[in-house]
Amino acid sequence: MQSLILAAALFIAPSHADGWTPGKQLARAVATASAVDSGIDQSDLLPAGPTDVSHGADLFKARCVACHGEAGNGGGPAAVVLTPRPADFTDSARWVATSLGTKFWIIQNGVKGTAMAPTGLSDDDTRAVLLYIQQTFAKQ
Ligand code: HEC
Repeated sequence: MQSLILAAALFIAPSHADGWTPGKQLARAVATASAVDSGIDQSDLLPAGPTDVSHGADLFKARCVACHGEAGNGGGPAAVVLTPRPADFTDSARWVATSLGTKFWIIQNGVKGTAMAPTGLSDDDTRAVLLYIQQTFAKQ
């Protein structure tokens, strides 16, 4: 129970507005590990709210396809010039390596040192695009 509360606290602690720091990413990684250990459904770690998956599809086409590709496999037109390459959402080993909560955080905050820039999407938009990706591309 204590680790469950710790996981929740670590997840909520970082503010989405004030940018990326390694410390926060570590806190999120620890939260993810604790969540896995305690068997929590990791989707519960996403902030609650409405989820409009068809809006998520529109967002994906407008904002993500250039890198992640129509097929979600990281093969978008911009991908050839990028190192590291955009994530392949159809790669099941990669998909399960991070929780939904971590992916949510990455979409909002980006991955420092890569082309994955902070998107500035709201919580509702982030959840919509993430669940679209999960339902459309992820093979678990
Ligand atoms: C300019 C190119 C670019 C765009 C546009 C882009 N991404 Fe990314 N994305 C990347 C790259 C590159 C990575 C890999 C970063 C790494 O290796 O850690 C990545 C990683 C990710 C990850 C982490 C996945 C994992 O398993 O490591 C998620 C989730 C993600 N992107 C979602 C999105 C979403 C959603 C959008 C649109 C709102 C988007 N990205 C737009 C380049 C892009």
